[in-house]
Amino acid sequence: MRSQAAETAPLMGFHDLGHEGEDFRAAALAGLAQPQKQLPAKFFYDARGSQLFDQICELPSYYPTRTEIGLLQRHAGEIAEAAGRDAILVEFGSGSSRKVRILLDALEAPAGYVPIDISRAHLMSAAQALAEDYPELPVLAICADYTRDFALPGDLPEGVPLGFFPGSTLGNFAPAEAARFLKRIAGLVGPSGGLLIGIDLQKDEAILHAAYNDPEGVTAAFNLNLLQRMQRELGAELDLAGFRHEAHYNRARGCVEMHLVSRRRQRIVIGDRGFDLEQGETIHTEDSRKYTLDSFRAQAQAAGWRPLEAWIDDRRLFSLHYLVAA
Ligand code: AVI
Repeated sequence: MRSQAAETAPLMGFHDLGHEGEDFRAAALAGLAQPQKQLPAKFFYDARGSQLFDQICELPSYYPTRTEIGLLQRHAGEIAEAAGRDAILVEFGSGSSRKVRILLDALEAPAGYVPIDISRAHLMSAAQALAEDYPELPVLAICADYTRDFALPGDLPEGVPLGFFPGSTLGNFAPAEAARFLKRIAGLVGPSGGLLIGIDLQKDEAILHAAYNDPEGVTAAFNLNLLQRMQRELGAELDLAGFRHEAHYNRARGCVEMHLVSRRRQRIVIGDRGFDLEQGETIHTEDSRKYTLDSFRAQAQAAGWRPLEAWIDDRRLFSLHYLVAA
């Protein structure tokens, strides 16, 4: 357990940009009223969902995390060379800090670390732990929804911003949203800045199927947690056992789609609204887009980036791209 002194120790700063996040109730009511019922994937990540996602990252069949960590380890020297001295690492989503530590250990005299996350508690504990382990490094945490427009604070140390967006989370955004995000980050890091981004690749469907349908049932629990969240937070009346997890690769869309399938005819009630489901009808909960190297590069270029380097593993499962402002 961390001591009280350590908890208040070396974090250089904390900015709360006061983004309250989207209203889960409004999103659920709107999504369930669509002809293809849907719930936005960003609502997976309450405390329970974040825990389940951490477990997913450790699953033998979930290759992205392991593969990306391998790429970071193998190419840390080249990444550090591209970044040069005095990089300010700006991380979008401060998940487990395992990946960023690989970079911080390799970078030459990093000027600062700026984790940005919507979840205040999660952000604070991750940033404090990191600040404690890197006492020389200015750590400036920003609580914000990074999918929305925001500026970096004025009290950043001198240095060159390098965005870090690991995990292929870009693939969970709708295409227009992903394009907007990439453009916005180009503006945020400025003309001398860069972006290191993890992008999952198209591959054999059996590998994708196994990654999103683990025999341990963790991904199923992660998906079903959205319904439990509706029960907990919205007082939704629904029969949890009346739903099952489904994930399949939609080749035409280049996405793994996750759905909650209704096992029978039933109704979800939220307040005074009722939503009827037929047997076999689904609620679409996530797209996880899989790219080719070229399809991602084209998207990055269209958003104002110049692809400098891309690293992939031997099995061509996952890619890590270093982009610079064009
Ligand atoms: C966070 N994101 C990149 C994960 C993915 O693979 O799309 C979320 C996830 N969904 C099911 N398993 C993992």
